Amino acid sequence: MNGESQPISLDIQDWSVTYTGWEKPVHAVKNCSLSVARGRIVGLVGESGSGKSTLLMSIPKLLPAGTVTSGRIYCAGGEISRLSEDKINLWRWRRIALVPQGAMNSFTPHLTIERHISEVLRRHLGIPKRDCAQRAAELAAMAGLEKDVLYRYPHELSGGQKQRAALSAALACEPDFLLADEPTTALDVITQKGVLDTIASLVRERGMGLLLVTHDLPLAATVSDSLAVMKDGKLVEQGPSGEVSRSPRHLYAQKLVAAIRDMEGQWE
Ligand SMILES: Nc1ncnc2c1ncn2[C@@H]1O[C@H](COP(=O)(O)OP(=O)(O)OP(=O)(O)O)[C@@H](O)[C@H]1O
Ligand SMILES: [Mg+2]
Repeated sequence: MNGESQPISLDIQDWSVTYTGWEKPVHAVKNCSLSVARGRIVGLVGESGSGKSTLLMSIPKLLPAGTVTSGRIYCAGGEISRLSEDKINLWRWRRIALVPQGAMNSFTPHLTIERHISEVLRRHLGIPKRDCAQRAAELAAMAGLEKDVLYRYPHELSGGQKQRAALSAALACEPDFLLADEPTTALDVITQKGVLDTIASLVRERGMGLLLVTHDLPLAATVSDSLAVMKDGKLVEQGPSGEVSRSPRHLYAQKLVAAIRDMEGQWE
């Protein structure tokens, strides 16, 4: 268990994930160790297919049946990687909430945003239906959504509004840790910044820990305390944001930063 001086954290230790559903096993995550303390933001960056979503989804055990994992994951000192399906279910949403990749496109079309958020409140916190609407409105406001958006159907929202709605649902149970997978991809740069700033300030205000997956290193660096760089399933570099984005040590991270500088240079 954590001593008083240690922050409450999500600790991933020597964690590997292998998909077994295909002819050949896919070793998507290889011996990764990473820690996210409450109140801190860790950005996880890397190219497409490097294993970011697999790592994230494996924390609350949301991978297909048959996927093999090894290593340990601790949350606030308790080992969650050993929990049965029933028990991990008690941690999902309440202690560890996820905004999955493509969350903005995964709403049920015939339910209003208010119904989506209320369902989470009812199912995971047992809040009676009559009290859900008020709480849903508070959560939506917290995520920067105007009140009338609550009563609209998903197709009546913009991409940014849908991301904010997904964020409201994820925050419904006041989790200790938020796992957000590309929460701003597919949004224009100004909307991206607005949504990310909202996430970052909520995380700071509420003392949550955030593991933020993105392939946008400059964007991650603006809000994260530390950055982890993933390549071919391995975490090849980790450190304070400023250090990793200014002077990366690993060759892949150097190439990533050089490519970004090159692109930025073309605009000067
Ligand atoms: N259900 C699955 N079965 C088998 N292999 C999978 C499955 N899901 C993902 N993979 C493979 O695992 C590897 C890591 O994929 P993952 O989705 O974690 O990458 P990512 O870093 O999130 O990529 P992106 O930035 O494109 O979202 C890839 O080689 C991918 O093809
Ligand atoms: Mg992904």
